[in-house]
Amino acid sequence: MNEVCIVTPDRDYLKNIVRETYTAVADDPATEFHFHVGLEYAVRLLGYDRAELESLPEIATSRFAGLGNPLAIGPIHPGETVVDLGSGAGMDLLLAARRVGRLGRVIGVDPTPAMRSTAWQAACEAGLAEQVWMLEGEVESIPLTDGVADVVISNGVLNLGVDKGRVFREIARVLKPGGRAYLADAIIDRPFGPATLSDPALWAS
Ligand SMILES: C[S@@+](CC[C@H](N)C(=O)[O-])C[C@H]1O[C@@H](n2cnc3c(N)ncnc32)[C@H](O)[C@@H]1O
Repeated sequence: MNEVCIVTPDRDYLKNIVRETYTAVADDPATEFHFHVGLEYAVRLLGYDRAELESLPEIATSRFAGLGNPLAIGPIHPGETVVDLGSGAGMDLLLAARRVGRLGRVIGVDPTPAMRSTAWQAACEAGLAEQVWMLEGEVESIPLTDGVADVVISNGVLNLGVDKGRVFREIARVLKPGGRAYLADAIIDRPFGPATLSDPALWAS
């Protein structure tokens, strides 16, 4: 009988790999990664508007590493509070900040310092610093009080949360009653094999 051994990496180890991976994206997005990054990818494969992206700071668009287009899921209105979980270098964050305007705010949450500082620099370059806040944190434990968000957006991040049930409870907790969640992520339609489940780099991608 063939025995299959799955070695699931532990949480702290996985978190470190995730942080290293996205620090590398922030430091040098031109490096080869085993996922797509950048503006051309966002326009050609995910349907973002080229002119809108070209009007944003290049430091944000070149480091985009999402999996879909959460802002295409539904509207964001002037004056609303939006929380971007795993905001990365800030491309969706800045698009949302333009939609909420000066009376709204967009709160980016990300555990990777290099990504947070890139997003903040991009917000300043784009003239959007007034409505953008950056917080250190994770989807499993969002550093916000209950019921603050009209909209939660996330792009390619929920798959990185180790405890998925907790991630969805946290999203529900920070949303106002009747709030909306625009979530873009990877969905699989068959179980992963043992080689995939044992590979920390794939957990982090
Ligand atoms: C695939 S990138 C996507 C970034 C951004 N949403 C975008 O579309 O470019 C993943 C981002 O999530 C962050 N991240 C990783 N683990 C996280 C977690 N547990 N909670 C929140 N963010 C996380 C990483 O630091 C990285 O910036």
